Amino acid sequence: MFRYIQKEAGYLIRRMGLAGRRFKPAMNQIEGYTQTIKDAGLYPDKFVAYSGPDVKMKVSINGKKPVWVTQFCANNSLGLAVDPEVVKAAEKALQAYKSTSCSGSPALCGKIGIHEELEEEIAGFKQNRCATLFMTGWMANIAIVDAIANLLPTEVPGFRNDEDIVVFSDRLNHASIVAGLGIAKIESMMSKHIHGHVKVIQYNHNDVKDLENKIKKYIHRNEKLMVVSDAVFSMDGDIAPLPEILELAGKYRGVVVMDEAHSTGTIGKTGRGIVEHFGLSKNKVESSGSELIHMTTLSKFAAGVGGCVISNNEAFNDLMHISPYHIYTSVLPPSVAAGCLAAFRKLRKNPQLVTKLQKNSAYMRNGLKEMGFDVRGETHVIPVVLPGKTDVHLFGKELFEKHRIFVSAVYAFAASPRLRLTASAMHTKEDTDLLLSSMETVGKKFNVIG
Ligand SMILES: Cc1ncc(COP(=O)(O)O)c(C=O)c1O
Repeated sequence: MFRYIQKEAGYLIRRMGLAGRRFKPAMNQIEGYTQTIKDAGLYPDKFVAYSGPDVKMKVSINGKKPVWVTQFCANNSLGLAVDPEVVKAAEKALQAYKSTSCSGSPALCGKIGIHEELEEEIAGFKQNRCATLFMTGWMANIAIVDAIANLLPTEVPGFRNDEDIVVFSDRLNHASIVAGLGIAKIESMMSKHIHGHVKVIQYNHNDVKDLENKIKKYIHRNEKLMVVSDAVFSMDGDIAPLPEILELAGKYRGVVVMDEAHSTGTIGKTGRGIVEHFGLSKNKVESSGSELIHMTTLSKFAAGVGGCVISNNEAFNDLMHISPYHIYTSVLPPSVAAGCLAAFRKLRKNPQLVTKLQKNSAYMRNGLKEMGFDVRGETHVIPVVLPGKTDVHLFGKELFEKHRIFVSAVYAFAASPRLRLTASAMHTKEDTDLLLSSMETVGKKFNVIG
C-alpha cells in the first residue's frame, strides 16, 4: 500500500513539474502579443467623441484634449442619427414605456409593439414579406449562415438534417460573415443532430467567372448551395454583381445572402438597396430560381443599432425567430427601436436624402480622383489607397491634428492599408471642399500626389 502511494505521489509530482515547465501562463503570451502590435505601430488610435455623429464632432484622440473636427468617417450616411425628428421619436418612446430596457429576450417578455412595427416597416421598405430583428447585424449574419448551413443544433423528433452544403463566400466579405461560416462549420462537427457537412469555398472578390468555376468544381449532386456576399463592401465601397450571382445560384436552386449593411438607405434611387440599384423586379429575382435573403444593420443610415433579416420566405422567417442568436439574447431598447422606426419612415417619405448622398459621394470621389488619388469603389464608402511606402496612420493623424479633418486611417487588421472616407447627405459643398483642400495639402506633403 505504502509503495502504491509512493508511486502515485511520484507520478503526481512529476506531472506537476512537467506542467510547470511545459505550460506557460496564457496571459504572458497575450501581453507579448499586444506589446508586439504596439511596438510595430499597428495598434489603432483610441478616439472618444463628446458629441453625436454630426458633420462637426468633438473628439479626443489617445486621451488628448477633445477638439472640434469635420467628420468624414461615420456611417450616419443620411444624417438621421442626429435628425431632430428621429431623436424626438426616441425620446417619446423612452417616456411612453417609462423604461430604458425591455429586460428580456424576445422569447420571454422582451418584445414590444415597436419591434413589430419596425419589422413590418423594414419588410415593407425592402419590398419583402417578412423581417426579424436581432441585437446587431453581426448576430443577424451569424444566424442566417448557421440556419441555412445547419438548420438549428436542436433535436427535432422525426426530423433528420443530413444534407451537405457548400457555401461560396466572397474573399472580402465582412468579418461577421466569416465568423458565421466558422461557427456553422463547428456546429456541424459538434452537434449530434447534424449529419451533413458544411464546406466553405472563398471566391475572388466580385469575380463571377471564378464563382462559376468554383461552383462547377465543388458542387455535386444532392448538395445545397449558398452564395453569401456584402452588397456594398464595407472597406472597398464597390457593389456585388447580384444579377449574375442570382443567375448562377439559381441553376442549383441555391440561396443567395446579401449583407446590405452599407447598401440600404444608400443605393438605388430611393435607398432600397441592391435590388433597386440593379432594377431587378420581383419576378426577375423569383424566376432566377434563387432564394434571396437580405441582412441589414440599423447601425448605419438607420440611426440606431441592431440587425434585421429580411426575406419573402415565411418558413425561413419562422426559423429566424427560434435562432439561438435571437432567443438567447436581449431585444433593442424601446428608444433605439423607435429611433430606427422613425429613420426608416423619414427615408420612405424623403427619397431626396438618397439623391443628396449620391451627389455628395460623386462630388467627393471625383474631386479626389482629379487630384490624382487612387480612389476605389463606386458608393458613399470611399477608400483612398495610398502608395506602398506611405504611412497611412501618419497621413490620417496629419489630417486630424493639422487640418481638423476626421477620416478613418485603416492600417491594421481589417483591410490592406487605406484611408476610408464616407460621404453623407449632411455634408455641404463647403464641408467637402474643406476635405478636398486638406487632402491636397497633406497628399502633396506626403508625396502622394504631384
Ligand atoms: C458589411 C457589414 N456587415 C455587418 C456589419 C455588422 O453590423 P452591426 O454593427 O450591426 O453589428 C457591419 C458593421 O460594420 C458591416 O459593415
